[in-house]
Amino acid sequence: MIQKVRAAVFPVAGRGTRFLPATKASPKEMLPIVDKPLIQYAVEEAIAAGATKLVFVTGASKRAIEDHFDTDAELERALTDSGKLDLLQTIQNIVPKGVSCIYIRQGKPLGLGHAVLCARPAIGNEPFFVHLADDLIAGSPGCLSQMAKEHADHGGSVVAVETVPSENTSSYGIVAVDKSNRSRITQIVEKPKPADAPSNSAVVGRYLLSGDIFDKLETIGEGAGGEIQLTDGIAALLDESPVYAYSFAGVRYDCGSKLGYLQATVAFGLNHPDTGERFREHLKNVLSD
Ligand code: UTP
Repeated sequence: MIQKVRAAVFPVAGRGTRFLPATKASPKEMLPIVDKPLIQYAVEEAIAAGATKLVFVTGASKRAIEDHFDTDAELERALTDSGKLDLLQTIQNIVPKGVSCIYIRQGKPLGLGHAVLCARPAIGNEPFFVHLADDLIAGSPGCLSQMAKEHADHGGSVVAVETVPSENTSSYGIVAVDKSNRSRITQIVEKPKPADAPSNSAVVGRYLLSGDIFDKLETIGEGAGGEIQLTDGIAALLDESPVYAYSFAGVRYDCGSKLGYLQATVAFGLNHPDTGERFREHLKNVLSD
């Protein structure tokens, strides 16, 4: 029987060096797109896909994430006293009832694979999502919901992929697939040079993994960049259990990069009910100058 996915892991312990100095004392995942931090978009996408257990793998300077998802009695009282009941409801609904948050520290940022392994005690052997909050994907239904459906229909692990220009392969995990078998992944390589890349199908920040991945992550050791890579853990899984590449419907913004972050801000700003119309006018004026 195919098990429903109830847990989501959010690795948020990276240093975010591409966004310094903004990320010196505050987490990259707390950067706002219009009025919500990236990590809240991430949590909303996971909850919409059925997750009720949210596991955050955190590190130094990440306290703001715990605070964001915690109750703030003083703020709630102030909003009540000033009659700002809409805002009160907004902050009270950040984590809906029935959803629990678990925080695990990754002592040192030893890599994404290591961060996922840190979540093992909270996950056990069940299938789980991994969501990288700096890859913001606009889509309806959300990317994780699409992947959960794929898993519910066919089982196996599922990894979201997107076609990238050949010259960009060295920024991603790159997969080769068997197209005659639902795009089952036959090879996955971390950050290959264009000449060594098996395709230009790149893994993006959404995974639905079986609990078997943890044993692999325990044993793989350091990979590219001296880090314990999730890509290498997945590569070790390929012969034993199926991992499928999934081309999602939606638009991805790489909010870990300055340009991607600005593009997301413009796209979400244009669609936001409070700002959309006036922002569109403003952009027209700016661009016509
Ligand atoms: P990135 O490759 O984006 O690294 O990590 P980073 O440190 O966050 O950012 P840059 O490249 O220095 O600007 C991908 C994801 O994996 C998490 C990060 O938080 C991010 O969500 N990660 C990475 C960890 O949780 N732990 C690690 O040791 C490494």
